[in-house]
Amino acid sequence: MTKKILVVFGATGNQGGSVIDTFLSNPHLASHYHLRAVTRDASRPAVKALQAKGAEVVEGDVDDTASLARVLDGAHIVFLTTMSIYDEQLRQREERQVRAVVDAIATGGTSKTVRQIIFSSLPDATSISGGKYQVQAFDSKYWLEHNVIRPWAASHGIRTAFYAPGVFFQNLHGWLRPQPVETKTSTATATTATTATTTTSTTTTTTTKYAIRSPYLPMTAFPWTDASADTGKWVAAAVEEPEKYDGSVFCGATRVYTMEEVVQAVSRATGKTVVLETAPLPEATTHGALQAMTQFLNEFPYYGDDQEGKLRWAQEQARPFGALTTLEEYLARNPLVL
Ligand SMILES: NC(=O)c1ccc[n+]([C@@H]2O[C@H](COP(=O)([O-])OP(=O)(O)OC[C@H]3O[C@@H](n4cnc5c(N)ncnc54)[C@H](OP(=O)(O)O)[C@@H]3O)[C@@H](O)[C@H]2O)c1
Repeated sequence: MTKKILVVFGATGNQGGSVIDTFLSNPHLASHYHLRAVTRDASRPAVKALQAKGAEVVEGDVDDTASLARVLDGAHIVFLTTMSIYDEQLRQREERQVRAVVDAIATGGTSKTVRQIIFSSLPDATSISGGKYQVQAFDSKYWLEHNVIRPWAASHGIRTAFYAPGVFFQNLHGWLRPQPVETKTSTATATTATTATTTTSTTTTTTTKYAIRSPYLPMTAFPWTDASADTGKWVAAAVEEPEKYDGSVFCGATRVYTMEEVVQAVSRATGKTVVLETAPLPEATTHGALQAMTQFLNEFPYYGDDQEGKLRWAQEQARPFGALTTLEEYLARNPLVL
């Protein structure tokens, strides 16, 4: 049987890596799909690990149009995620990346073989906030979904599906990682006396308190996901039934957690005192893209209207490919060493 070639952009990253793992660890999927992992540098150890699992590795760069013909050669399905850098160029950069890939499919003749594109999108935060916030990191992907991918795919007879992931648990190992904020040293003296001697011993204990520093409030609640473990489950659903899911959006997350719940789970998992410290973003990151995003998330539901319904539907579609990862499971599998 000829396997369908599934091209995975961002294969060494959270989302793409999950697609590779999900497909190669599932005997049915592994026997029906040939996984082609795209990376800019195939010599890296992480890439060797992908090869060892059974993925084909092809070097390619969305900023190097010539490399995309090689990446897309004979492809049947494309999983595409953009690479965000949170600066003023975010929107233009993401548009350039997406247009480079769809143009390469159309002009390289691959439009004859590519039957489906699955794009990592996000909700339209500007509309959800009634125009109060311009959340570039979200809107850029939503705009690309609606103004580039959907019309382009329709005109080429290519099916689509969209994955709109929640907030990644992986941020807890990144910008939301607990930081030491206070170290206390306490000394206890104990005296033991017998009829003959008196002994005094001193014990010094040092305890460090940690804080997750972010602009989020304790009751700020958003949907969270383990992007490295669970993305592939929605992609698997989409490729297995392309007609059923044509044009669908998977609001991919395990559940909604408040920041307070997140902090408590991190405290339990690490055995340390971890608190939430609500503070503005550092000056260096206040260029707008991240600032607006955090303000939006403090005030509005991530997925807009009927968030719970959208989450429930997406969770049901992923179920045949395994249980979604809870925060506690994520922290157990990826210990935070403080
Ligand atoms: N963090 C969150 O909570 C969150 C939530 C929702 C959505 N998102 C979105 O998720 C996206 C990031 O996804 P991720 O976390 O899965 O990625 P990631 O782990 O940061 O990895 C980035 C991937 O992009 C690849 N890459 C970078 N530049 C490239 C280029 N010029 N050409 C080809 N590949 C390139 C890298 O591959 P090589 O280095 O191997 O070339 C790597 O595999 C962003 O768009 C972000 O906005 C994030």
